[in-house]
Amino acid sequence: MNILCIASEVAPYAKTGGLADVMGALPRELSRNGHDVRVFMPLYDRIDTTRLDLSVVAEHVPLRLGAHAYDLKVFAAGDSPRMYFVHCPALYARGSLYTNDPDEHRRFMALCYVALATCQQQAFAPHVVQCNDWQTALVPLLLKTRFAWDRLFARARTLLTIHNLNYQGSFPSSVLADLNLEHEAHHLHQELLRAGRINFLLHGILYADGVSTVSPTYAQEIQTPEHGAGLDPFLRARRSSVVGILNGVDYEEWSPEADAHVPARFSARDLSGKAVNRTALRAAFGLPQPQDVPLFGVVSRFVSQKGLDLVAEVMPEVFEHDAGQLVVLGSGDARLEETFFHLQRAYPRHVGFHRGFSNPLAHLIEAGADAFLMPSRYEPCGLNQMYSLRYGTVPIVHRTGGLADTVVPWDARAGKGTGFVFEHPDATGLGWAVGQTLRAFRDRAAWHRLMMNGMSQDFSWRRQARIYEQLFARLEP
Ligand code: ADP
Ligand code: GLC
Repeated sequence: MNILCIASEVAPYAKTGGLADVMGALPRELSRNGHDVRVFMPLYDRIDTTRLDLSVVAEHVPLRLGAHAYDLKVFAAGDSPRMYFVHCPALYARGSLYTNDPDEHRRFMALCYVALATCQQQAFAPHVVQCNDWQTALVPLLLKTRFAWDRLFARARTLLTIHNLNYQGSFPSSVLADLNLEHEAHHLHQELLRAGRINFLLHGILYADGVSTVSPTYAQEIQTPEHGAGLDPFLRARRSSVVGILNGVDYEEWSPEADAHVPARFSARDLSGKAVNRTALRAAFGLPQPQDVPLFGVVSRFVSQKGLDLVAEVMPEVFEHDAGQLVVLGSGDARLEETFFHLQRAYPRHVGFHRGFSNPLAHLIEAGADAFLMPSRYEPCGLNQMYSLRYGTVPIVHRTGGLADTVVPWDARAGKGTGFVFEHPDATGLGWAVGQTLRAFRDRAAWHRLMMNGMSQDFSWRRQARIYEQLFARLEP
């Protein structure tokens, strides 16, 4: 199959979260299976082009979005998958991937238009167009309207993959002219338009041939008013086309046996390297090296979704009893950052906080921590709990979305399970799970079993990519 993927972030080129990991790995797996896969993303200014072997595909591509004119370039690199980078400093030289700037909608409309125009220029006829989140959710509508004349796309089926329903790309209706829909604007949701809004993600849900999300449980949750973020009626209306496919793990990047970012490699057969990494991790955060208490880890975007306020609420009691330590890597919400700075000042022997984004440090936390905290209020899939399992780092999660689908509650009597799973995303729920963790940690045999159970799990992309292929084959206009 010819498969076109369009995304706002792709690892290792540009990443803020799990979308990049998914778009870095799934297209590669699909091309291994013999498909011709082309991936489009913006050439953000933070991408280090000196390390990429870029060739020019198109120069001086003119694009008009409403009254705004741009001059774009398209570069390509690699073959399987073939990566395309859309170059336009006026849009993508902003220091960060996402902004609150008034042209945010145009930054990603440009990506969509140029991706389709480049297919035309390259005579690449996709069988499947896979778009991701609100940034590329208007592609199915563009194919049904502005590009409908071109027989190149006659066989193209579209799939919208929702990685997070809460980011919808909702803009004032004044952006309408910038979508270039002209006399086809009646395809937009009219009631919402009259109410003064245009919601990008909604139109993906309305017009894609299929809608997928990144775990089976989240696929159900988003069809309820509680987790539907206002779009649940539209998802319910399409329920037979909404599926949940769990993300996979890129074990080439996330494996303790082959991790180039950490001081010591290890495996289920020989765990000695884990202790070396734990020592290095404590040292990296300037923490003392106590013998018998667990080291908890967090790697996260600081947004309310992730429930990190609960960590700050629950963990001080652990520190007061000298029963554990905590390392935290992340940034975002200023209040949360202040909370963790404060916690570090209050418990300097127990808490290490690194504000920022660091892939090597994220690896060191996975490799060196004993337990990993993910008390997310909601979680479409979540990748870090799966990375944790592979590294023998026991996940502590709220039973929601992909966390519910990937972590099996520990049953001490049966010796079964892979982590600690709590029901309610509040301090009582997390406090209970942390208490259970401390107790299991004191029982060396139980803890060893927990680690082994987790390390033997397989969440590889090999299987998940096959499920995507089956879905592609089923897509009907
Ligand atoms: P989300 O996409 O909602 O952020 P996921 O668990 O799916 O959550 O994926 C997060 C990805 O981003 C993981 O690969 C994680 O290691 C990485 N990540 C998040 N915050 C940081 C950070 N501060 N530094 C390095 N990597 C981070
Ligand atoms: C989103 C979700 C996360 C998911 C990731 C990749 O950022 O918040 O749960 O794992 O996308 O699909």
